[in-house]
Amino acid sequence: MTQQILLLPGDGIGPEVVAQARRVLEKVKAQHTLDFSFDEALIGGAAINDEGAAYPDSTQMRAREADAILLGAVGGPQWDSLPAPERPERGLLAIRSDLDLFCNLRPAMLFPELAQASSLRPDLVAGLDILIVRELTGGIYFGEPRGIYTREDGVREGVNTDRYDEDEIRRIGRLAFEAAMKRNGRLCSVDKANVLEVTMLWREILESLRPEYPAVELSHLYVDNAAMQLVRAPKQFDVMVTGNLFGDVLSDIAAMLTGSIGMLPSASLNAESRGLYEPVHGSAPDIAGQNLANPLATILSAAMMCRYSLQLNLVADCIERAVASVITQGLRTPDIAADSGSAEGITIVGTTEMGDAVISALDSQ
Ligand code: IPM
Ligand code: MG
Repeated sequence: MTQQILLLPGDGIGPEVVAQARRVLEKVKAQHTLDFSFDEALIGGAAINDEGAAYPDSTQMRAREADAILLGAVGGPQWDSLPAPERPERGLLAIRSDLDLFCNLRPAMLFPELAQASSLRPDLVAGLDILIVRELTGGIYFGEPRGIYTREDGVREGVNTDRYDEDEIRRIGRLAFEAAMKRNGRLCSVDKANVLEVTMLWREILESLRPEYPAVELSHLYVDNAAMQLVRAPKQFDVMVTGNLFGDVLSDIAAMLTGSIGMLPSASLNAESRGLYEPVHGSAPDIAGQNLANPLATILSAAMMCRYSLQLNLVADCIERAVASVITQGLRTPDIAADSGSAEGITIVGTTEMGDAVISALDSQ
């Protein structure tokens, strides 16, 4: 049966990087005679401009039907003055919630040739390979009550609510244990259980799952310590699992350790492994439309899509090897060029040329 892939290019550099990922998908489709088709819809600022909402009904309808979704990025200065509920970012939160994409996988792995670009010493990051499992549809991002209210005394008050029920904790916990089993068997759960009740429950539920996964070594860290350990000795981590807000922060830290946020993909999955795939970076409006953006994070997101939603593990491996090989060949978009060490053997290329290089590297995978 034809697998439907929905492309949501979004804003800023989103359309450019999604276009390259699409070319890569077209290439593997031809190489491996795969049966998938592409559809495209609006999200974020582009959707606000054209349809008056960040996650319009027409997009919602197609997103619900798709087998997998590839998203570029949302947001930009044009929409910064909109009230919170109308901003492009709400489109992203809405689609996560609408499709119940509670499991966000954010791998942070270092490409050896880019070690110089890390903010940490190469010896601290060599071989770094962390998977952050972030709960994505609950916690303080969605808890009610929320808002900015004027109290009876006339003083305004901002309110958000951090809440998780035990089922929500258990389902993300299980996926994190399973991910750890497929990797190096170490799972670190991150909470603030010394202060916040919601995370006391988080820790208790994670602990209660331990007997089901005897092969996994479970540990717990408070989030402040986890942030410190990530910049002190990041290689101690294999899989980290945490709630929505802590996951947002820790995944940016982990991304920076690899020195190349332009290289990192992500997957957001629901219980049926239907998923939304997107680069970890944002819409970078300052470089949009100039053929400067790094398409590799989106191309690697397409690889994750093949692995997790389309059951095409071998195709995913091919795409990942093709990306590794263009890095080894010395090709760099400007974001990863500056810190590549000596300029010898390094060629600076644009978005499209990087896409071309991955496509020709696929011929030899
Ligand atoms: C992310 C982003 C989003 C988030 C924003 C754009 C809503 O920072 O995916 O990490 O906070 O989840
Ligand atoms: Mg973030």
